[in-house]
Amino acid sequence: MDGYRADLGYVLARPYWGQGIMTEAVRAVVDWAMGQPEIHRVWAVCDVDNKASARVLEKAGMEREGILRSWSIHPNVSPLPRDCVCYAKVKRPG
Ligand SMILES: CC(C)(COP(=O)(O)OP(=O)(O)OC[C@H]1O[C@@H](n2cnc3c(N)ncnc32)[C@H](O)[C@@H]1OP(=O)(O)O)[C@@H](O)C(=O)NCCC(=O)NCCS
Repeated sequence: MDGYRADLGYVLARPYWGQGIMTEAVRAVVDWAMGQPEIHRVWAVCDVDNKASARVLEKAGMEREGILRSWSIHPNVSPLPRDCVCYAKVKRPG
């Protein structure tokens, strides 16, 4: 939480991938956050190559906003900061 913004991140143990678990969890968190009067923006980022994570965010109703270059390090992919896609849901679409 950062004032009116809430950001989320997630990781699921490999044996549980591909069962819709993270979509259900992220949907629940996004819906809860958007129901809080003080929160106006929920956002998340994922690695540009993480198609499953992007899909989770889309299915939770978040919109792709753009790419944050060299945004975060994902040591399992590279020791250097990776480009990430930013997804968000806002109460008042611009
Ligand atoms: C990414 C992650 C959270 C997804 O969780 P999950 O419970 O397996 O995801 P779900 O089963 O809810 O849904 C995944 C969606 O991505 C799709 N998907 C899965 N693997 C895919 C791939 N390699 N390419 C494209 N789409 C893919 C699925 O088909 C599904 O979409 P659909 O319902 O339209 O078919 C999980 O794999 C994970 O924890 N990975 C490691 C850590 C990580 O990447 N965290 C996210 C950091 S941003």
